[in-house]
Amino acid sequence: MSIEILSQELSQVQVQDEHALEQFRIRFLGSKNVLKDLYAAIKDIPNEEKRSYGQQVNALKERAEQIYHEAKAALTQTLQSSHAEDLTKPAGDPMVGAHHPLSLIRREIIEIFNKIGFVVSEGPEIEDDWHNFTALNFPPEHPARDMQDTFFIQKGANELALRTHTSSVQVRVMENQAPPIRTISPGRVYRNEAISARAHCFFHQVEGLYIDKGVSFADLKQTLLYFAQALFGPQTQIRMRPSYFPFTEPSAEVDVSCSLCNAQGCNVCKYTGWLEIMGCGMVDPNVLEACGIDSNEYTGYAFGMGVERIAQLKYRVTDLRLYSENDVRFLKQFKPGML
Ligand code: PHE
Repeated sequence: MSIEILSQELSQVQVQDEHALEQFRIRFLGSKNVLKDLYAAIKDIPNEEKRSYGQQVNALKERAEQIYHEAKAALTQTLQSSHAEDLTKPAGDPMVGAHHPLSLIRREIIEIFNKIGFVVSEGPEIEDDWHNFTALNFPPEHPARDMQDTFFIQKGANELALRTHTSSVQVRVMENQAPPIRTISPGRVYRNEAISARAHCFFHQVEGLYIDKGVSFADLKQTLLYFAQALFGPQTQIRMRPSYFPFTEPSAEVDVSCSLCNAQGCNVCKYTGWLEIMGCGMVDPNVLEACGIDSNEYTGYAFGMGVERIAQLKYRVTDLRLYSENDVRFLKQFKPGML
């Protein structure tokens, strides 16, 4: 390879990427580079030409080194600017999860009752017949014990079932604690229902119990009014309709005025202005006695509500199934105090 050809090559060379740069390095600067032959040929050059020959080859080598370093610098710079972050930029928000809407509502309900002295009690999800039914004054033939409603785990003498309400926890509290009792029991409950938008085989409840001397229906009503206004806003009204539960007498169904339409009537309240949110009543003396509490000395009230139902009203999510599908697109919409 002659000096002229190589010098022409160097004057035209274009190093566009890292691969080309490496090829160039091997060809002109590597251990078997093309200039080596030119250096080796020095000994055959006539003495008087040696000096200028050597200078030309050295110039080629310097030119090659220069091209190499310039190309390398240019390439690193484009590489850096395409990948580069601004190192002084503050970090972005990390991806954080959201609380489940049912947890948010449960927490809110618990806080409201905490303020007036109710403490949380919890119990097992697998219950025996006594705590779920018998102590709560369910007659042996009561339809709620039917296979239709209850998931039985073990039939027979030591019957076990998935609890159908958290009233079972209240039985445990009454058995183990002397009045006064002021407790709420949040938790998951199970009922054997076909899954649809309006029913599920499990849901969540918060049930409350207050037992002391002289507790009256007026106390119950005032407590529930306080609760409804704390949860749905100060303009909220409640009304009670007579109902039936084996464990309370008298019993009532509680409606709150519809907060979506200011009780004017809308499709959520079915144009009645009222929304049903819970059951309640005065604890039946049979229940107190079954749990070892003297019903001549003590009276009490109880109430129970579905957390999904409250969440439906607060978040306007009407399909129950969404609460247990764990779809992140659904879940990430909920923030504490968003409504
Ligand atoms: N345990 C009832 C239910 O599961 C709710 C309730 C609790 C009603 C306490 C009255 C008193 O539906």
